[in-house]
Amino acid sequence: METIAIIGTGNVGTALGKGWSRSGHSIVYGASDTRSKSALAVLESVSGTRVAGVAEAANEAGIVVLAVPFDALSDVINACGDLQGKLVLDATNPLTFHDDSLELALGFSTSGGEQVAEMAVGADVFKTLNQVGFAVMSDTSGYASRPVMFVAGDNDRRKPDVFALVEDLGFEAREAGPMKAARLLEPYASLWIDQALKFGAPTDNAFGMLRRNGEGGTVECIRYELTSHTPEDLIAAYEEAGRHLREAPECCGYQLTQCEETPGRFILRICWTSSEAHLTGFRKGPHFPPFLELVRPFVPEISEMTHYSPTRVAWTR
Ligand SMILES: NC(=O)c1ccc[n+]([C@@H]2O[C@H](COP(=O)([O-])OP(=O)(O)OC[C@H]3O[C@@H](n4cnc5c(N)ncnc54)[C@H](OP(=O)(O)O)[C@@H]3O)[C@@H](O)[C@H]2O)c1
Repeated sequence: METIAIIGTGNVGTALGKGWSRSGHSIVYGASDTRSKSALAVLESVSGTRVAGVAEAANEAGIVVLAVPFDALSDVINACGDLQGKLVLDATNPLTFHDDSLELALGFSTSGGEQVAEMAVGADVFKTLNQVGFAVMSDTSGYASRPVMFVAGDNDRRKPDVFALVEDLGFEAREAGPMKAARLLEPYASLWIDQALKFGAPTDNAFGMLRRNGEGGTVECIRYELTSHTPEDLIAAYEEAGRHLREAPECCGYQLTQCEETPGRFILRICWTSSEAHLTGFRKGPHFPPFLELVRPFVPEISEMTHYSPTRVAWTR
């Protein structure tokens, strides 16, 4: 895997480093002061990383992530040096304080993302990872469905690489279009900020792409009656195996529930785009073998494994 240089050792830089190092990426941080409080803190919280000067970090990585205040971008991009051919992810938001509240400094006939694309000459620049707070970026687990993260950028050939990086953090990566769509993604980030700062939403709230029950999808229901494993064995196995489900485009979500009265009984619900997509797409695709490897020990303890079509009767608060 290519090394990722994260420029900025603050909230976002630290969160992204945590998420990516969990999925096996090698991270080097770029900082203007490698002995600053935040540079030393990031060494503590992101395992196996190091902090270098901005130019050194950018030079040794194929992927450069900008996680600095918007008004530092021009200096930071200059300090990066030659970015020709590199993948640059712009996680910044052009924010300014107005009447004690954070507002967009730019909009809506240009965007920070477009300005970064102009400044980072020769790089393939994408706007993403700017849309939710850092607490979501450091840990995308525990949501009913994967938090969504849009990606905007002009180079379609390199977009799959960006999607993979975003998905490695646990997000559902979604196409937003060319870089001009940063004009949508930056105000969209402002909506998240307003929700968290003004309207009491928790700071780990996330936006998701909801899919309507009963339309096309299918729910695979697997009931486990554990006899030779502990509940924790099963939970730990699915924590790991879930990664392969999240990477599979056929899978829309999953939830493992444990019986309160009989703790060795579990129901796993996996939502698939269709039975066909599950049985042919997923089962014959690249994500099934590593998934099966992790859950195979529990197969003898399955008491039901069937597909259910959602009906029109459904409600969620
Ligand atoms: N906070 C969020 O939840 C969130 C979510 C999405 C997007 N964003 C955007 O992401 C960016 C970073 O936000 P943040 O919350 O991580 O900010 P932060 O905690 O203040 O961290 C900013 C980092 O940038 C570094 N920096 C500033 N000027 C620099 C320069 N000239 N050269 C090198 N490094 C420099 C700072 O270094 P020092 O530590 O040495 O000062 C610090 O490590 C912002 O554009 C923000 O709008 C934030």
